[in-house]
Order: sequence, then C-alpha cells, then structure tokens
Amino acid sequence: MNSLLPSGFLFGLVVSLCLADNFDQAYSDLEHYRTIYISENGPRLSVVTEQAKVVSRRGGNVTLPCKYIRDSSAPPNPKLRIKWTKLTADYLREEDVFVVMGFHKKSYGSFHGRVYLQDAGENDASLVINDITLEDYGKYKCEVIDGLEDDTGVVALDLQGIVFPYFPRLGRYNLNFHDAEKACRDQDAVVASFDQLYEAWRGGLDWCNAGWLSDGSVQYPITKPREPCGGKNTVPGVRNYGQRDKEHNRYDVFCFTSNYRGRFYYLIHPTKLTYDEAVQACRRDGAQIAKVGQMFAAWKLLGYDRCDAGWLADGSVRYPISRPRRRCSPNEAAVRFSGFPDKKHKLYGVYCFKAHN
Ligand SMILES: *[C@@H]1O[C@H](CO)[C@@H](O)[C@H](O)[C@H]1NC(C)=O
Repeated sequence: MNSLLPSGFLFGLVVSLCLADNFDQAYSDLEHYRTIYISENGPRLSVVTEQAKVVSRRGGNVTLPCKYIRDSSAPPNPKLRIKWTKLTADYLREEDVFVVMGFHKKSYGSFHGRVYLQDAGENDASLVINDITLEDYGKYKCEVIDGLEDDTGVVALDLQGIVFPYFPRLGRYNLNFHDAEKACRDQDAVVASFDQLYEAWRGGLDWCNAGWLSDGSVQYPITKPREPCGGKNTVPGVRNYGQRDKEHNRYDVFCFTSNYRGRFYYLIHPTKLTYDEAVQACRRDGAQIAKVGQMFAAWKLLGYDRCDAGWLADGSVRYPISRPRRRCSPNEAAVRFSGFPDKKHKLYGVYCFKAHN
C-alpha cells in the first residue's frame, strides 16, 4: 500500500534503540542522587492504592482508591495535605486535579465541580470523579504531605470504549498532531493512547496506515504481517515510528471513544440524499447528522447493525455491520467505509444522533 512504511518502520527501530541507550544513561546518573533518608522508626507515612487500575466509561462515576497510613504515635496534623494530580499523556508533566488541606478544598480546570474526596473514614484519600469524560482517561497520582513526610501512589483510570483509525476528507497522511486532536474531537472522540491501541491490536485491529497517538508517537497495529506493512516475515505487533515532529510531520490518527448519552440511528427516509439534504433531514428529525465516533461506539458497544450506506458529519459514507453476511461485510464484523464521495451525489441514506438532554 505504501512504500514509506518499511523504511519508516526501520527508523522506528533505530529510535527505540537510541531511547533505550538514553534510559540506561539517565538511570546510571540517577543512582548518584538516590539517597534515601530513613527515620529511625521506619517511614512515618505511607500511601497505598489498593487497585492499580479502575475501569469506567464516559458518563460514569468512579472512585480512585487511595489510603494513607500514619505513624500511630504522631499527633493529628491539621495541615495534612492531600493532592491529586493527573499525568499528561506523555508522562512529562502533571496537571492539578484536587487539593485538600483541613477545610480548604480546591478542584482545577475541567475537574471543577466533578471531583471530591470519598472520605470513607479515617486516612481515606480516595477521589471520586463524576460524569467521566474521554479526557479523564489516564494515570492519577495521590500524594499525601504530612509535615516533612510525603508519599505518593498512582492509579490508572481506564475507559471502556473503542479505538478507530481516522483520516479526513483531505486524504491520507494529512494531519499534524494538532490537526489530529481536532479531527478526533470532531468525531466525538479523543486521540487514543498507546495502551488503548495495544488493547485494540490484541482484539484483532490490523491497520496499515500510521497514525498519531496521544503521547506524540506515530504507530500502527498489524495482526497479519505482510510486505507493505513492515515486512512479510515480521512478527505481528504495534509498529512504532517513534516520536514525530508534532508541527511538521503528517499522518492519520487513532481516535478513541466511549459510551455516549443519546440515540444513534439510521434515518428512514423515502429517497436517497445528497450530503446537504442528509444534514437537513436529521435536523428536521430533531437530531444531528451522526459523527464517525458515534457510529463506532454504537457498533462496538451496542452491536448496532445496518446494511445501508449513510452519510456522516465529516462527509464520509459508512455502515456498521455486527453480523457479517453476504453483500454487507461477508468476512468480518466491521464499520465499512465507502469513502468520501462527492457531496452532491444523491446516492446514500443518513445516520443521525439525538443527544439526551
Ligand atoms: C453519578 O453521581 C451523580 C451524583 O451523585 C448522580 O446524580 C449520577 O446519577 C451518577 N451517575 C451514574 C452513571 O451513576
């Protein structure tokens, strides 16, 4: 399909080798600074997260477990501070989520009004997040600061959902990282993480076009090795181009979406429609023309099946098949893609989405 892929793949290998070298170096440097102070009676504070991972879905509520254990002989500390932060997708930074000290509480950014401490008894630092969004996916750090003592634990919030490869009407390999973020958002999705793509690969996703992931790397999942996709005699796997230039390099993208609140449906209409007529027809039905992410979510999470090619908001034409059959998708359950036809062609139906409140 694409002669760039094999060389790109090699390049990825080289990059990961270099990275490995650097890690070794960074690690040996660290050794010098790793002085650990141990008080005579052992640590006076420790933070425990019972579960390393919690699974939820968009719209759900979740509790990220975290407990701290204080030295029982220590007097109560009214200035004990509990701080929750979220690691960014590249793990390079942390963003503030929630801080509490005594009666003072503060939640930050998009978490404002959606997060609070569970407060289930003494020494509980568990965080409740309500009305989970796609952006909430990721790793959270629970930090407890008790005077000079300080300890942390990490909990991952995983979401039930689906990864889908995406390129826009412009065609293949047209998105820099920022375009990719917007492209997923426009499809009611976010850029997928490596872990999400890896899970999708384990579930059988095979896609021979490289796409951005949320950590700024570019990769693609291959379950059936073949010549144009990294080589015929290679092992199946997620092929990695490594970190690419977010401004200047252009690829497709892997998007991730989860449950939605609303109804996705094929509009029963007496005639086939042009794109503009399709947009109007959904609107007249009190809905909106559906997005690509909504079709994938309906297909994956609800088993939605409809053998009618229909317009979607991005101007593509697709149809979701859960029960493979002749003339629909004979060999596999899949969201079938009929391309980005001329918007004037009056040849297709339309899929609509009606949001609940
Ligand atoms: C989440 O919690 C809020 C507030 O407690 C509640 O109103 C809502 O129904 C809960 N949502 C789910 C999906 O359980």
